[in-house]
Amino acid sequence: MTVSESSNVVWHHATVTRSRREALNGHRSVIIWFTGLSGAGKSTLAHALEEQLHQRGCRTYVFDGDNVRHGLCGDLGFSVTDRRENIRRIGEMAKLFLDAGGIALTAFISPMREDRERVRALVAEGDFIEVYCHCSLEVCEQRDVKGLYRRARSGEIKEFTGISSPYEPPQHAELVLDTGAITLEESVAQVIDLLLARGVLPAV
Ligand code: ADX
Repeated sequence: MTVSESSNVVWHHATVTRSRREALNGHRSVIIWFTGLSGAGKSTLAHALEEQLHQRGCRTYVFDGDNVRHGLCGDLGFSVTDRRENIRRIGEMAKLFLDAGGIALTAFISPMREDRERVRALVAEGDFIEVYCHCSLEVCEQRDVKGLYRRARSGEIKEFTGISSPYEPPQHAELVLDTGAITLEESVAQVIDLLLARGVLPAV
């Protein structure tokens, strides 16, 4: 979509604002953007974190391939261009969720630095927390939970991240987790500590 196509659309200002929703929820809204190779543990971590946040009474939602690539982005493949559009749509969706007062947890490879930075630039400073799930290709490939690395190595799957398509690690992630080495519980605890330190979650 180009800017000109939507240039005559006027944004409707609601009387119920983000800050009123945040006050009702008892926590700030934020986008927690997980990035990393396939098999690095992004979805597992996002769901485990969501469980903890939910138990604390937070409004949350996990956006991942299962609920996005089948629907909203079902028309997209894995070329660099399609991935860019995938991340653009997810970024816009996460921005709306931010305005809705929730904690958006996104779990996408999002391999290109520029695409992630574009999402960061959509929202205010502090609204976007990039969490790099760092796990070596060797470990991801060894795990090969979905059997996709094997199929990518054999050439059956083209443009596979880490094998035949690039992954650009973040240079200024708010948090880097060594998901190849530390436990899931430790990863969850580190994100929660960061959310407390940044005042997203109220101190208890
Ligand atoms: S992204 O690059 O556009 O951010 P996304 O996170 O939505 O990717 O989807 C990645 C998931 O799709 C992987 O975890 C894997 O299960 C599956 N997949 C299928 N084909 C590919 C491919 N060519 N490269 C990477 N992941 C793929």
